[in-house]
Amino acid sequence: MRNGTSLLAMRGIHKRFPGVHALKGVDLEVQAGEVHAVVGENGAGKSTLMHILAGVYRPDEGTIAFRGRSNVVIADEHSAQQLGIAIVFQERSLFGPLSVAENVFAGRQPVNRWGKIDRRALYDRTRVCLRRVALAVEPEVSVEHLSPAQQQLVEVAKALSVGARLIIFDEPTAALTETETSALFRVIAQLQSQGVGIIYISHRLEEIFQIADRVTVLKDGAGQGTRIVRETHPGELICRMVGRDLALLQRQSRGEPNTNPVRLEVAGLNDAEEFRGSRPYLQEISFQIRGGEILVLAGLAGAGRTELALSLFGVRPRASGEIRVDGRRVNIHSPAEAIEAGLGYAPEDRKDSGLFLDRSIAQNVVAARLNDFGAWWFKDRQGETVTEEFRRKLRVACTNVNQPVQELSGGNQQKIVLARWLLVDPKVLIVDEPTRGIDVGAKAEVHSVLRELASRGTAVIVISSDLPEVLAVADRVLVLCDGRIVGELKGDEASEEKVMRCATISR
Ligand SMILES: Nc1ncnc2c1ncn2[C@@H]1O[C@H](COP(=O)(O)OP(=O)(O)OP(=O)(O)O)[C@@H](O)[C@H]1O
Ligand SMILES: [Mg+2]
Repeated sequence: MRNGTSLLAMRGIHKRFPGVHALKGVDLEVQAGEVHAVVGENGAGKSTLMHILAGVYRPDEGTIAFRGRSNVVIADEHSAQQLGIAIVFQERSLFGPLSVAENVFAGRQPVNRWGKIDRRALYDRTRVCLRRVALAVEPEVSVEHLSPAQQQLVEVAKALSVGARLIIFDEPTAALTETETSALFRVIAQLQSQGVGIIYISHRLEEIFQIADRVTVLKDGAGQGTRIVRETHPGELICRMVGRDLALLQRQSRGEPNTNPVRLEVAGLNDAEEFRGSRPYLQEISFQIRGGEILVLAGLAGAGRTELALSLFGVRPRASGEIRVDGRRVNIHSPAEAIEAGLGYAPEDRKDSGLFLDRSIAQNVVAARLNDFGAWWFKDRQGETVTEEFRRKLRVACTNVNQPVQELSGGNQQKIVLARWLLVDPKVLIVDEPTRGIDVGAKAEVHSVLRELASRGTAVIVISSDLPEVLAVADRVLVLCDGRIVGELKGDEASEEKVMRCATISR
């Protein structure tokens, strides 16, 4: 809980980028030992405000007071660190090939009297830091061998090692499992009890109600006030975030049974002997999906959902299995062959999505359909018109469709990944975590876009860890466990409870 000591006070912060007034006089106050949540739609300015605290951007106007000092200048990342401010970035920032210890003490490794790195002291100190975040890994392992959740804790350990008094988490749980999330929350509670101030950004409102003391809402770069969490409720926050009441997701009734022909048929699919060091995993996968159908792949983390998507898309080698599209047997051994056969795949990790970050939104959106539009540098115009339509539909916050993708907020980049496949109109579209990082207002829009795509005859396969949300659009659910299909439920009889029971009982 808060102990009443003011730690941070930001007042009247403005930040302008060319064509965007990203922050319009924002106030934010955090106390020692407080978890202060910041919420808002994609592009509201949350990450920009945090980048100012981390010394990545300088504010155009406004003042910052920190630990009793008024008007502190956070000129760069180093001065943020000196002040005691650390950020756990939305996209990880550790250096993969180096060890945990080298990452935690980057640039500050203890040396012995001959000026060489003192490994023993380094490892001992690292162990102390790792203990504070309850992370049971050895200091000498390379960071790239750790899971995303473990890497995140290494970042927290790094923050603690420099004596951080304010730690910023920007969507830390987007890629974590439930167990990992609870572990992170325990670490946050621990930090809190040591008087560290926490700023916590998330699109998952239930998390805010679980761990935050206060919450500040941003909308279009302007503060919409700060509330004590106990005294507010999700409906009020959503209303402040999107500026209107939002109908919560409702199951769409689908009337007539689907009698369209089968679009995709998979029979007896098995993983090849070995793939990137992992054992064969997928076993005897058989299913079919009709045009116009939305099929949800459910299961716990590690059940094989993403593996199945990668296998169908030709990334993961198969030992056996027949794939038919519109009744014709197809040979898929690479993504190019998959696309040729009419498949599309939007992966869960934006970094693997093939976005060209330095190119414009329009160029990225038409990239998957170059044959129709010609090379982008010739036919930019056409691309712009089409992109404009998707921009409106998915409510992408940008100045115009010629803006480079790297200037978009995280959630808006995610929407571009999706828009690109929508334009291709594949026969079968597989989307992995399509709403990760997407705000509450736009989630429903993503689903209605998937529904629209289905109504034009596409077979849509959705992988999502947000069960309540995805069940609202499912026609059918396949439950996976340990690389096998262990159950099938019709959309209208699938409840969260039934799916989870099926996914766990078969373990
Ligand atoms: N370097 C930049 N150049 C130009 N515009 C930028 C830059 N960085 C951010 N913006 C713009 O500033 C606005 C706020 O972006 P920000 O990343 O802070 O949003 P966010 O609230 O973190 O959204 P999300 O929930 O999607 O992560 C957006 O309109 C974004 O396009
Ligand atoms: Mg952000």
